[in-house]
Amino acid sequence: MRFLVTGGAGFIGSNFVRFLVERYPEDEIVVLDKLTYAGRKENLRDVRKKITFIRGDICREKDVNKAGSCDVIFNFAAETHVDRSISDPGIFVRTDVMGTCTLLDYAHRNNVSRYIQISTDEVYGSITRGSFKEGDNLDPSSPYSASKAAAEHLVLSYYKTYDLPVIITRSSNNYGPYQFPEKLIPVLILKALANKPLPIYGTGLNVRDWLYVTDNCSGIDRVQSHGKTGEIYNIGAGEERTNLEMAKIILKNLKKPEKLLSFIRDRPGHDFRYSVDTKKIRKLGWKPQMPFEKAIIQTIDWYRTNTAGWSSLQ
Ligand SMILES: NC(=O)c1ccc[n+]([C@@H]2O[C@H](COP(=O)([O-])OP(=O)(O)OC[C@H]3O[C@@H](n4cnc5c(N)ncnc54)[C@H](O)[C@@H]3O)[C@@H](O)[C@H]2O)c1
Repeated sequence: MRFLVTGGAGFIGSNFVRFLVERYPEDEIVVLDKLTYAGRKENLRDVRKKITFIRGDICREKDVNKAGSCDVIFNFAAETHVDRSISDPGIFVRTDVMGTCTLLDYAHRNNVSRYIQISTDEVYGSITRGSFKEGDNLDPSSPYSASKAAAEHLVLSYYKTYDLPVIITRSSNNYGPYQFPEKLIPVLILKALANKPLPIYGTGLNVRDWLYVTDNCSGIDRVQSHGKTGEIYNIGAGEERTNLEMAKIILKNLKKPEKLLSFIRDRPGHDFRYSVDTKKIRKLGWKPQMPFEKAIIQTIDWYRTNTAGWSSLQ
């Protein structure tokens, strides 16, 4: 089997490449990544001898063709930071929508056996009570989630029009090692370690459903091996925490005072709560393995051990 992982030098992508190397030692893994500010070759240092790395842009056919023919494509490559999408939406449409289109054309030309699109629960928008199911309407709030929703429509259109064997995953917020320090959890940990104020949007009561990154990786693999083409699968652990609760958990674990909490002006269109129903993927035999309490300590420890390299990226 030959796997192509786009965006494999980013947070989830690099964890997924590590997962594939361990799970499928006999198979070939090709990583295609543009190495934007969020992608780092160092994230793959421990597996570099076991993969083929191509520096390239998913929006450029010439770059994508360098991957040769592949059996399964996992498209992680994307612009991913909501705040950046508010100040510069164009690059999100280019990478997340146009880039997906270039990859789908490549997948179609090469008759791949699976094309897995990594999407997000943010395409549903906010929900006050209950959890979104895969068939629910999409109502994205930010240019980021709107671009991801547009990409999903394109992916499903290739299934209907060309019979391309596609599957979409929509995961909730991930955390774990190698996450770029612009996202909530690494920001909070690195600020706390440096005794600096921890920025909390608005009242801090926005709720996210936290999923440890290796559980997302096993979910994506389960969908690839057991999922049905043309289908969408939510992935989440049901570990809901407000941003304020999360900040307090991190401060407590690092034995830092709560006076470091600093409330800042809320961002525009900030969704209040995300929550996904995961019955469909659980029917494939998947469930999260990492308890939140253990995973968050492991994540804090990872940033503590790697503080020097990661705090300089902030
Ligand atoms: N992080 C989360 O909590 C989360 C939750 C749900 C879904 N997702 C989705 O998972 C995927 C990965 O997210 P992440 O948090 O690891 O992102 P990330 O920002 O850490 O990494 C993105 C990677 O994509 C690469 N990239 C960007 N533009 C590219 C291009 N034009 N061509 C090739 N490579 C390009 C970057 O260099 C980087 O390595 C994204 O599709 C995202 O929408 C993320």
